[in-house]
Amino acid sequence: ADKKLWGGRFTGGTDALVEAYTESVSFDRHLWAEDIAGSKAHARMLARQGVIPAEDAQAIVAGLEAVQAEIEQGEFSWRTDREDVHMNIEARLTELIGDAGKRLHTGRSRNDQVALDFRLHVSRRLALWGELVARLVGVLCERAEEHADTLLPGHTHMQPAQPVSLGHHLLAYAQMLRRDHERITDCLVRVRVSPLGAAALAGTTYPLDPASVAEDVGFPATFRNSMDAVCDRDFAAEALFCGSLIMAHLSRLCEEIIIWANPAFGFVRLPDGYATGSSIMPQKKNPDVAEIMRGKTGRVYGSLIGLLTTLKGLPLTYNRDLQEDKEPFFDTDKTVRLSLDCMSGMLAEMAFVPEAMRAALGRGFLNATELADYLVGKGVPFREAHHVTGRAVAWCEKHGKRLEDLSLEELRGFSELIGEDVFQILAYESAVARRTIPGGTAPVRVREQLAEMLEWLARA
Ligand code: ARG
Repeated sequence: ADKKLWGGRFTGGTDALVEAYTESVSFDRHLWAEDIAGSKAHARMLARQGVIPAEDAQAIVAGLEAVQAEIEQGEFSWRTDREDVHMNIEARLTELIGDAGKRLHTGRSRNDQVALDFRLHVSRRLALWGELVARLVGVLCERAEEHADTLLPGHTHMQPAQPVSLGHHLLAYAQMLRRDHERITDCLVRVRVSPLGAAALAGTTYPLDPASVAEDVGFPATFRNSMDAVCDRDFAAEALFCGSLIMAHLSRLCEEIIIWANPAFGFVRLPDGYATGSSIMPQKKNPDVAEIMRGKTGRVYGSLIGLLTTLKGLPLTYNRDLQEDKEPFFDTDKTVRLSLDCMSGMLAEMAFVPEAMRAALGRGFLNATELADYLVGKGVPFREAHHVTGRAVAWCEKHGKRLEDLSLEELRGFSELIGEDVFQILAYESAVARRTIPGGTAPVRVREQLAEMLEWLARA
C-alpha cells in the first residue's frame, strides 16, 4: 500500500480490518465513468479560471482518458488500500502524468465530487427507467387495442363486481406507469443539479465557476447552498421512491397475472419462455417471473427505507454514513430495469383467453347493478331498487340460476315494473357499452383513452 492521499498527518497505517470495513471501491467503482466526466469538467474549468495552467488541464484530461481506456480494457487495478473510486482514479492519474495530476483536486473535496458522480449516475439511470417504462406502456397499449371489446369480470374485494373491458383493465396499468414516467421526469429536475464548487462544505476561496462545470456535465443547475450540496441525498431517496412505486405497480399486475393463470380462472396462458415447471409435478406451469417480481418489490422498498433511515440522524454536513447511499440505488436500478424488461416481454407474449373470461361473467351476478339501475329508470328510488335486486339475487343463488336465466314472469315476481326490455339491459355487453362516462369502460371510451395515451407516448 502506498501513502494515503490524505496521509500527511498520519504516521501509522490503517488497520487491515478497518480498511476492509470502510472501503467503498468494491462497489463505487461502478461510478468510474461519472467520476472521470466530473474530473474532466473540473480540470477544464480550473484552467479557464486561471487556477491551473492550461497544459496541466490538457494533461489531466488526456491522463483521465488513458485511465478510462485501462478500465474499459479491464487492465485497471482497483485497490482497496486506495479506499474509493475517486482516490483510485486520482492516484492512477498521478502515476501516469505526474505533478499535473496532483493539481486536479484544487478547490474540490470528495464531498462535492461524490455527490456529483452519484447525481450523474442517478440521472442516467432514471432516464433509462423512463425509456423502459414508456416501452411497457406501449406494450400495454397494444394489448389493450386488441382487447378493447373483450370482457372480463371486474372485481372489488376480489369478488365479482361488474363486467369491464380487458383493454380498460390493461390501460389502468398504463395510467399508473405513465404517472411513474412523469414522476421520473419531475425527480430529474432535482437530480440534475451540480454540487461542484461546494468543496468540503463551505465553498472555496478559488475563483471557480460552478455554472460552467454544470454545463460541461450536462446539468442545467448548480447548488444554492454549499452545506446542503454536500449532504443532500434527497435526489437518491426520491429516485428510490420512484423505483418503489414502479415496483408496486408491477407487483400488483404480477398478482393479477398469477391469479389469472390459475386454472380456476384460466384468463391467461403464460408464454413458455416466461414460466417454469415443477421438478416433481409434471402438470405444472408456474408463474415464477411474476412471483419473483412481486418478491423483489419488497427488496426495493427495503432500499428506500434503508436510505431514509441512514439520513434521519445526520447532522450537517457530510458524514461518512452517506457512503451507504450507493448500494441500495445500484441494487434497485438493476431490479427496476430487469423487472420492467421482463414485464414487457411477458405481457407482449401472454395469451389472453376471452372464452374463459366470458364464462366467468356468468358467475357472481355481475349484472345485478344493471337490474337495479333499470328499476331506477322505471321510477323506483335507488335504495329500494337495490333491495328488490338483492332479493332476486338471493333467490337465484338458492336456485342455482343467473339473473338472465329467469323468465319475465319470475322477474316480475320481484317487481311489477319489469318488462321485456330488461333482458337487453342484463346482457353483459350492454352493461359495458352503456358506461360511456369519460374514463368509463365502454369500448368507445376505452378507444379514446387509448388514443390519448398513444399521443402522450409519442411525446414521452
Ligand atoms: N466514499 C465516500 C462516499 O461514498 C466518498 C466521500 C468521502 N469523503 C470523505 N470526506 N471521507 O461517500
